[in-house]
Amino acid sequence: MSSIQTQIYPDATHLAVSVASAVSEIITKAIQRHDRCTIALAGGSTPKRLYTVLASDPYRNEIPWDRLHLFLGDERYVPDDHPDSNFRMVREALLDHVNVPESQVYPVPTYLDAASAAAEYEKLIRKTFEVPHGSVPVFDLVLLGIGGDGHTASLFPGTQALDVHDRLVIENDVPQQDSTRITFTIPLLQAAASTILLATGDDKADAISRAVNGAPNLQETPSQLLRSATGEVTFALDEAAAAKLES
Ligand code: 6PG
Repeated sequence: MSSIQTQIYPDATHLAVSVASAVSEIITKAIQRHDRCTIALAGGSTPKRLYTVLASDPYRNEIPWDRLHLFLGDERYVPDDHPDSNFRMVREALLDHVNVPESQVYPVPTYLDAASAAAEYEKLIRKTFEVPHGSVPVFDLVLLGIGGDGHTASLFPGTQALDVHDRLVIENDVPQQDSTRITFTIPLLQAAASTILLATGDDKADAISRAVNGAPNLQETPSQLLRSATGEVTFALDEAAAAKLES
């Protein structure tokens, strides 16, 4: 069982630059191991800065983008050109600036109904990893954010996706967002070889504290799932997000 490592940075810029270096290292090692690197990208606003750093020198020219397979760890149930689309954010911040082969970039098929989109995404993941039903693929890297309520990916407190353990991807009705989401499930997130969760700002401090040190309660703080991840888990935090962590 992994323990959550915390890395604390003075501000969001230092965090993004340092995490970019860590991501580059993970990519290099994954390619040395099995000639490719599979990454589940985070949505929301926090990772944008990281994606911009990766899309700039030196990483734009250094990372072997053609060896990467990029997925989304979760997606809002909107068209992929919608302002709320995580894929649109990733495309604008990263994909439009680097050469990942289009056949190796996997947006969630939100043009389908939500249940079919989740099922098709799961099929795509199984096909890419060549794993049969019953086994859980191991992403080389999963990037995540965290909400002020302690959600991660689109696993929100008290939602039905938290109880799904026989799927890799599931649709999730999120009343607190008045929306439907498509999300990696707990087993898929917990299987990753490396996970980096990024959080900045004092509005995340309480959630970070509950995730790392709080009394175990997955329904209340879904990001606690990372305590039972099998791989390396790092919380990359700025000082404001880390402010309520026990020293
Ligand atoms: C999403 C994300 C979600 C996000 C958190 C934090 O689809 O929004 O997957 O889990 O990481 O809500 O969002 P911010 O980075 O915008 O604070």
